[in-house]
This record gives sequence, C-alpha cells and structure tokens, in this order.
Amino acid sequence: MNIVKVKDYQEMSAWASKQVIDKIKSSDQPVLGLATGSTPEGLYQDLIEAYKNHQVSFKNVTTFNLDEYVGLAADDPNSYNYFMNDKLFNHVDIDPSHTHLPNGVATDLEQECKDYEALIKNTGQIDLQILGIGINGHIGFNEPGSSFSDRTQIVKLVDSTIEANSRFFAHKEDVPTHAVTMGIKTIMESKEIILLASGESKAKAIKQLIEGEVTEDFPASILQQHPNATIVIDNAAASLLNA
Ligand code: GLP
Repeated sequence: MNIVKVKDYQEMSAWASKQVIDKIKSSDQPVLGLATGSTPEGLYQDLIEAYKNHQVSFKNVTTFNLDEYVGLAADDPNSYNYFMNDKLFNHVDIDPSHTHLPNGVATDLEQECKDYEALIKNTGQIDLQILGIGINGHIGFNEPGSSFSDRTQIVKLVDSTIEANSRFFAHKEDVPTHAVTMGIKTIMESKEIILLASGESKAKAIKQLIEGEVTEDFPASILQQHPNATIVIDNAAASLLNA
C-alpha cells in the first residue's frame, strides 16, 4: 500500500484528479470505478474544470459506481445515481450509457446484484477504483463483518453509517436501511485503487487502515494486500499515525 500525504482537501482532490486524468489518457477505453460521499466531490469538481479547459475528454470512459441505496430511484435527489449526474456526469462529455450504478429500485434486487457484477466482468477489469472510507472502515457499503470474498450484494447499513449519512437527509429516519454495494472481492479485482481521506473525523479509521491488522471487522484493511493501492490522506486524516 502506498501512502501519499497531502496538506488538505484541496491538495488531495488535485492529486487524485491528476491520477484519474492520466489513467483516462493512458487507455483507449478506460474503465473507472467511482465513489460518492463528500470526499470525492472536490475530485469531481477538478475533473469538470479540466474537461472545460480541454485537458481531458470522457468520450471513451466507462464508469461503475460502488453502491446505491435500496428504495431510492435515480431521480431521487438523495440517490447516488442523482449525485453522480449532478456532481460529474452532467458536466462532462461522458456517454450516459457508459455510466453504471446499481438500480436501488429494481423489482428483483438479487438479480440486480448478479447483473451488475456480470456487467463489470463483461466490460473487463476496472482500471482505477476511487474509494472513500467510512468511519468504521467500510468501503462502498461493505460494513464490518463483510466477507472479503463478497461480490455485489444487498447489505444492511449499521447505525453509525445511517447516522453519518443522515446529514444529507431531512430526517435520520429517511436514510434507507439497506443498499446494494459492489463486494470487497469485486473492488479488490480493480487494477489500481486510490482511497481518499480528509479531515480529523477520518483519522482513527486511517490509523487502523495503515497500522492495524487485516481483518473482516475493518473492511478497508484488505487494501493492505492489494498490489497497487494508494491511500491519499491530508494532514488532519494523518494526525494519529505513528510516523
Ligand atoms: C458512504 C459511501 C462510501 C463513502 C462513505 C464516506 O457510506 N457508501 O462509499 O466512502 O460514505 O463518505 P464521506 O466521503 O462523505 O465521508
């Protein structure tokens, strides 16, 4: 696992944006794995800026997002489908048919998971997967206790995740209790992974990710075993590290 330390959120976003642009330029048909949450928002802003300045085109890019809430349709402002359109896809020249997120309102969710997994497989490997991290070490929506061999699946969100994500909703009760998420095995099959973390609230999780043991009780710890994973942390997120 490579560790990159940057000053703040802005530097973290700029660093990640450069990697994503390089990855897009290095392939005829790049496949990106994308994340939601506050963490990658700055990255997406930087990518939009680079597109507007003619530094990058998304014409040949295919994307797969990590997850979606069960019960939220793509036009629901709290859905991750909506988030991605609003924060990135609507502002760049990506072909909407090349952007993929799980459908949280599929009538047969089990089948939706299988179909999503198959779609990733048929497209080929994800070249670069962007990740954030939950304060309990979750990646995507793979909560502590998830198996490292999990594929795309329906998961129950734990209370601390519902609490943390309730800031985006009017009431905590509005936060869906379940989600569809790429599994840890699916994520680990990406050729390259960049996990971003900024701010003091992530410091404990970052310490455990970098200095702790590899355990299913802390899902992100599996990244220690990925051949090409980079953890990008700002000063606040790095504040509890030994070195
Ligand atoms: C959610 C998402 C994760 C994300 C995490 C952290 O639970 N499913 O993919 O990494 O929140 O979010 P934030 O970046 O807002 O701290």
